[in-house]
Amino acid sequence: MKHFQSVESLFKPFEMGSLKLPNRIMMAPMTRNSSPNGVPGENVAAYYRRRAENGVGLIVTEGTFIDHRDAVSDQENVPHLYGENALNAWSKVVDEVHEAGGKIFSQIWHMGSRGNVNDYSRQDISELVKAFAQAAANAKKVGFDGIEIMAAHGFLIDQFFWDKTNTRNDEYGGDIVNRTRFAGEVIAACRRVVGSDFPIALRISQWKYNFYTAKLVETPEQLKLFLTPLVDAGVDIFHASTRRFWEPAFEGSELNLSGWIKKLSGKPTITVGSVGLEGADFVEFFATGEHANGKVTTISALIERLEGGEFDLIAVGRALLADPEWVIKIRDGRTDELLPFTRETIDTLY
Ligand SMILES: Cc1cc2nc3c(=O)[nH]c(=O)nc-3n(C[C@H](O)[C@H](O)[C@H](O)COP(=O)(O)O)c2cc1C
Repeated sequence: MKHFQSVESLFKPFEMGSLKLPNRIMMAPMTRNSSPNGVPGENVAAYYRRRAENGVGLIVTEGTFIDHRDAVSDQENVPHLYGENALNAWSKVVDEVHEAGGKIFSQIWHMGSRGNVNDYSRQDISELVKAFAQAAANAKKVGFDGIEIMAAHGFLIDQFFWDKTNTRNDEYGGDIVNRTRFAGEVIAACRRVVGSDFPIALRISQWKYNFYTAKLVETPEQLKLFLTPLVDAGVDIFHASTRRFWEPAFEGSELNLSGWIKKLSGKPTITVGSVGLEGADFVEFFATGEHANGKVTTISALIERLEGGEFDLIAVGRALLADPEWVIKIRDGRTDELLPFTRETIDTLY
């Protein structure tokens, strides 16, 4: 009985404007490279539907490319969020998830400048902003319940955020507030096309792909300066991408990044990072192919933080790839039945 009480807070509904979720567990965005020519097929729809059927409160899709010449890398199996074929296919994915009682956001993604963001002219910047807005409009048109703008991990928007990659000396570069200007324009443009009641999440991180000790901000004061223009531009919920949810964001407090963002922005937040996993984290995983040691960990520390009000939603990545039934097994106390994350997990789309 005690066990059921302890997971109860994970299964409290969450409301944000018109978005109503039955519980606090989200599927983290995860690139699966399974959409030839940018078009998600029935296998992709079934993969997302399987999570919706098994109690995931909100799915965030894998990163989907926006329609811009630099957005799309050579990863030809990453889905697009533009073009008739891809949009028709996404509309089927959305329908399947909805039929199964789920909700789904599209993650909209631009890989980043091929040179660096200092090369973009004002004209280029306005084209980029338009491409994001078009993707947001497309997401709404095909029936997604919201969007998550990818502004983390060293990709385009993060390249504008970070002083190591943004050395512009116009209004898009310089201090931390200027470095949020591009993101602010993207968010505001997306907001204009989707209207006031369509959720916009923004995913941010300190770390960069292949540079895991990087820091966007060093202090809570800087974080506050960074967040304010983004809130003003229209973000509804921040997704604080960390590799381990239990790590403090700054010295002198146990709060993780999502906790600080919630406190400083007044907006709801999403936490993420190694929920339910033990062993090697995804840095080692990507670098070496090593993976979690096949053990699952308890989630009591996570629940304590949720109950402490540090964040509102919890994104689960690899544990939910490994076991589509992760949510209901957690709910029903069937933790001994959880399937471990292994190499095969990543190689199959199930
Ligand atoms: C295979 C894989 C693909 C990923 N692709 C994306 C992505 O497209 N967009 C994104 O924001 N994060 C991506 N991530 C990061 C995850 O969303 C998540 O933050 C990370 O895996 C940590 O959560 P976890 O420890 O629960 O797996 C990816 C992670 C994995 C393992």
